[in-house]
Amino acid sequence: MHAAHNVSLKPYNTFSIDVAAETFYHITTEEDLITILAAQKDQELFILGGGSNMLLTKDIEQPVLHLDLKGIYIISETEKDVTLKVSAGENWHDFVIYCINNNYGGLENMALIPGNVGTAPIQNIGAYGVELKDSFYSCTATHIQTQETRTFSKVACEFGYRNSIFKNQLKGQYIITSVSFCLTKKDHVLRTEYGAIKQELETNKIDNPSIKDISEAVIAIRQSKLPDPKELGNSGSFFKNPVVDLAIFTTFQKNYPQAPFYKISDLEHKIPAGWLIEQAGFKGKRYGDAGVHKNQALVLVNYGNATGKEIWALAMKIQQAVLDKFGITIEAEVNVF
Ligand code: EPU
Repeated sequence: MHAAHNVSLKPYNTFSIDVAAETFYHITTEEDLITILAAQKDQELFILGGGSNMLLTKDIEQPVLHLDLKGIYIISETEKDVTLKVSAGENWHDFVIYCINNNYGGLENMALIPGNVGTAPIQNIGAYGVELKDSFYSCTATHIQTQETRTFSKVACEFGYRNSIFKNQLKGQYIITSVSFCLTKKDHVLRTEYGAIKQELETNKIDNPSIKDISEAVIAIRQSKLPDPKELGNSGSFFKNPVVDLAIFTTFQKNYPQAPFYKISDLEHKIPAGWLIEQAGFKGKRYGDAGVHKNQALVLVNYGNATGKEIWALAMKIQQAVLDKFGITIEAEVNVF
């Protein structure tokens, strides 16, 4: 298998940042993946999936492995549910639409999330009251050093809010090659309690929604709020919503009684970073080609030719302003290289 050299990564990251890969492998089979890993032993590698959750701030010197494994397979099926195995390189949204078209329920609230299936478990993607872990069955992954294949159950993945074992103890050790999902074929569990979905269904006078109705509501909401990476480079939420302890939350609520929040437990509250950033005055602001989206302040955007360093500088400026105003640190959700 041949490597390409000096390849622009602009088409391979949804932020549309133009950095170069010195060495670039396009991988379409697990055999090729194992061959390359074995050949590159002891060399640090850069694994590229859908490129939807990363900010590239410099040229990539280590070999880039662009993982493009395709295929959706039915593993088992009963009258009530189905288990599907999906290759890592399948586009997430296309897979969600495949499920809707086959009347497989569970992923409809996560329509239109950018990225590939293989990277979805790493940060336990989520939207509108649902997370990947809710339908996740297992995933297979190849160990970069030994090339051994391991299957991770849901428990083994240690999922949390935008978090998993692949971002912690096992960071940089495994490449996820496929993900299995357990989805419903009937008696779908519909999650419509999230405010915006409820409202969208009401507006369209839908009382008894199907999974297709929900996915369409989610698509409409996302399209109204979130920029399409094909039109405006972005990486979805740039920051995580901060989770604060009771002391910080009590002071915060006294000062900003109108602020939205989600209670996680008696001791922990999540505060929407989008709200904090908007209050700090950044919503819709533009600095050269780097900016903060006009409809959702949590999303940083590239108007065309912003460099990764410019986006990162803006992120740091926002982080400092939020800290100065609220005493709360917001952390990047995207991976920065
Ligand atoms: N808000 C503002 N100003 C803003 C943005 C939000 O005041 O500019 C307020 C909203 O009015 C609302 C609250 O913040 O009261 C929450 O906003 P929203 O419902 O848009 O959700 P979010 O917490 O900002 C999270 C996810 C999104 C996901 C949405 C919907 C994170 C980091 N982000 O955003 O995920 O689509 O919920 O479920 O948890 C992503 O990860 O890339 C992503 C887009």
